[in-house]
Amino acid sequence: MSTFEGFPSPPPESGGSPAVAIIVTMIILVVIGFVSICCARKMKKAMVSELRAAVAPPMPSNVIQVWEVDAPTMEKFFLELAQQKPVRFTAQQLCAFTNNYSVTLGSGGFGRVYRGQFTNGVKIAVKVLNRGPNRSIEEQFMAEVGTIGRTHHINLVRLYGFCYDHFMSALVYEFMENGSLDKHLFSENQELKWEKLHEIAIGTAKGIAYLHEECQQRIIHYDIKPGNVLLDENFSPKVADFGLAKLCNRDDTHVTVTGYRGTPGYLAPEFMLKNFPITYKCDVYSFGILLFEIVGRRKNTKIGGNSDSLDWFPKQVWEEYEKGELMQLTEACGIEEKDRAKAERMAMVALWCAQDSPEARPPMSIVVKMLEGGVDIMPPPKPFHYLFSVGTDVLKPPTSSGSGSGYTSEGTTSYWCKETTPIMAKYEISVATL
Ligand SMILES: Nc1ncnc2c1ncn2[C@@H]1O[C@H](COP(=O)(O)OP(=O)(O)OP(=O)(O)O)[C@@H](O)[C@H]1O
Ligand SMILES: [Mg+2]
Repeated sequence: MSTFEGFPSPPPESGGSPAVAIIVTMIILVVIGFVSICCARKMKKAMVSELRAAVAPPMPSNVIQVWEVDAPTMEKFFLELAQQKPVRFTAQQLCAFTNNYSVTLGSGGFGRVYRGQFTNGVKIAVKVLNRGPNRSIEEQFMAEVGTIGRTHHINLVRLYGFCYDHFMSALVYEFMENGSLDKHLFSENQELKWEKLHEIAIGTAKGIAYLHEECQQRIIHYDIKPGNVLLDENFSPKVADFGLAKLCNRDDTHVTVTGYRGTPGYLAPEFMLKNFPITYKCDVYSFGILLFEIVGRRKNTKIGGNSDSLDWFPKQVWEEYEKGELMQLTEACGIEEKDRAKAERMAMVALWCAQDSPEARPPMSIVVKMLEGGVDIMPPPKPFHYLFSVGTDVLKPPTSSGSGSGYTSEGTTSYWCKETTPIMAKYEISVATL
């Protein structure tokens, strides 16, 4: 056999039998066949699941997945917690977490609150709800808990889970190290500095603004008060008990006095009038009342010494404001000079929030801006007419305000405040209103 230079020579004749070659070829064919069957199966599976997804009906938007923990191990639960879903506990588990309900943190309109701890050491507060005759059915309860449990904001107390069985309904919350604001606000020792109280007011306003303006479904709190503002280890505020009104069978749009179980003193005037529509602005009123309490660092209502006369602080604030003496009032409240401008601003925001007409009260996102500064607050009209007159007329929206800029519709920010740039503020320049 001739070979050409530059090309490799053919391999020498192999000495193996043809049977070996046949066996090797067959093995190769079997392997190739096996691999192709596997690939075909995989492809079929992918196509089927793709098809299923295409034809499956969409999950109804109101179905909220709530996961149950019944396994003795807590691992599943911690996984679900990480996924931020409310977890269902058994009554036995709650009993173990709270060491048989041995430490009571307090009690309120919805039930009693106990201190507890998960097995991984995370502290919790367990609120055992009073069950009325018209208690919500399990499905409704779970739907509401599902909504509350998925509402997350840095200024809202986190709901970890719940218990619902034949004998009890309970909610399991994150534990707030420093308890509720009322205890610090009205205590003798006043360890919270005014600057911190100002931050607490802003954080609380942000939490409520989130419930009103940023949630998929607006949540009205119905019970804003210092007792429902809880403080964590850094004294950062978180609003507690949101969503409870609905959970406990309170009508969420039109509530009459008889159906309402909020806290007297913080109630918006519309609650006193039968059949007057109740909107989210009732929370703005209650927040205004809370702001007065921060400015005065006292409960708004004090039964005066010997005379038993009712001395209502918000009315006093209005009178001082009318006389142009708000600054003096803040001084009389013991607020240091460096904090007085902020305190004066807070008092004006409180007067706006506590307007008789719900429409005249600013939305909470505007309240946040007004408290933070950076906007000029318009002069608030006189509030508290409802204290002296009967009938629904006092709650009608105002046609014009003392500020000169007429009230037109909700969301007209310039009714409550106007933006100022630092330069405009420095040279006292304002935008003309026609
Ligand atoms: N998550 C929590 N962490 C720590 N303490 C809590 C927690 N939740 C509630 N508490 C304590 O339990 C007390 C009672 O709370 P509860 O909500 O039952 O009553 P309330 O806030 O006074 O009234 P309301 O029923 O109107 O909310 C609170 O004042 C607070 O000190
Ligand atoms: Mg509460």
